Amino acid sequence: MEVLILPHHDATAVRAADIVEVQLRQKPSCTLGLATGSTPIALYNELIRRHRSNGLSFSQAASFNLDEYIGLDPTHPQSYRRFMNDKLFDHIDIPITATHVPNGLAENPLEEGPAYEAKIREAGGIDLQILGIGSDGHIGFNEPTSSLGSRTRIKTLTEQTITDNSRFFEAGEAQPHLAITMGIKTIMESKRILLLATGEGKAEAIAATVEGAITAMCPASILQWHEKTTILIDEAAASKLQKRDYYQWVSTQQDALVRKYRPSDLPEGL
Ligand code: PGA
Repeated sequence: MEVLILPHHDATAVRAADIVEVQLRQKPSCTLGLATGSTPIALYNELIRRHRSNGLSFSQAASFNLDEYIGLDPTHPQSYRRFMNDKLFDHIDIPITATHVPNGLAENPLEEGPAYEAKIREAGGIDLQILGIGSDGHIGFNEPTSSLGSRTRIKTLTEQTITDNSRFFEAGEAQPHLAITMGIKTIMESKRILLLATGEGKAEAIAATVEGAITAMCPASILQWHEKTTILIDEAAASKLQKRDYYQWVSTQQDALVRKYRPSDLPEGL
């Protein structure tokens, strides 16, 4: 795993946008895996800024989101389809028909998972998957004890996740307890993964992910097994890592190697 520690949240967003930009430049018709939540908003703002001011184009790209609440209409303010339209898709040039979010209103929700998997396969798989992480180590809505071999399916949310996400719902508003989520195996098939986490509330989950044992109790820990994962975090989220000095040293060495031998992996102008 590559662990990049940057001083603060905004710096992680700029670095994450660099990675997305390089991906789009190297393969304009790439398939992006996208995430909702507070963490990627700064990344999406930076991508919108680059689209407007530097001509960064998504016109040939496609996207698949990780998850959606069961029972929420796509226009509901808390639905993840609405989130993605509001926070990203309405402000860039990706064709809306090339953007995919699981259907939380599928007539038969048990069939939506396999149908979503088939669409990902038809698109040739995910080139770059963006992930957040829950304070309990979940990725997508794969809660602790989710099968590490799981596919897109319905999950029952934990009390912890429902509490963490209650801040987005109005007092007294019904909050779904079920969601449809890409599975852990689905996520692991992405060619490249970029996990973003900032703030002290994520420090324990990050320590368990990077330095703990691989276990379904911390679903993100399976990423230790992935060939090309970057954990991009701020100082606060890194605060419980034991080997942070080593990670900083590795990233200085890696940067020097890329600059010398694979400059095409750097964003333009660097
Ligand atoms: P957050 O959520 O970005 O709002 O902290 C992350 C997650 O639950 O995956």
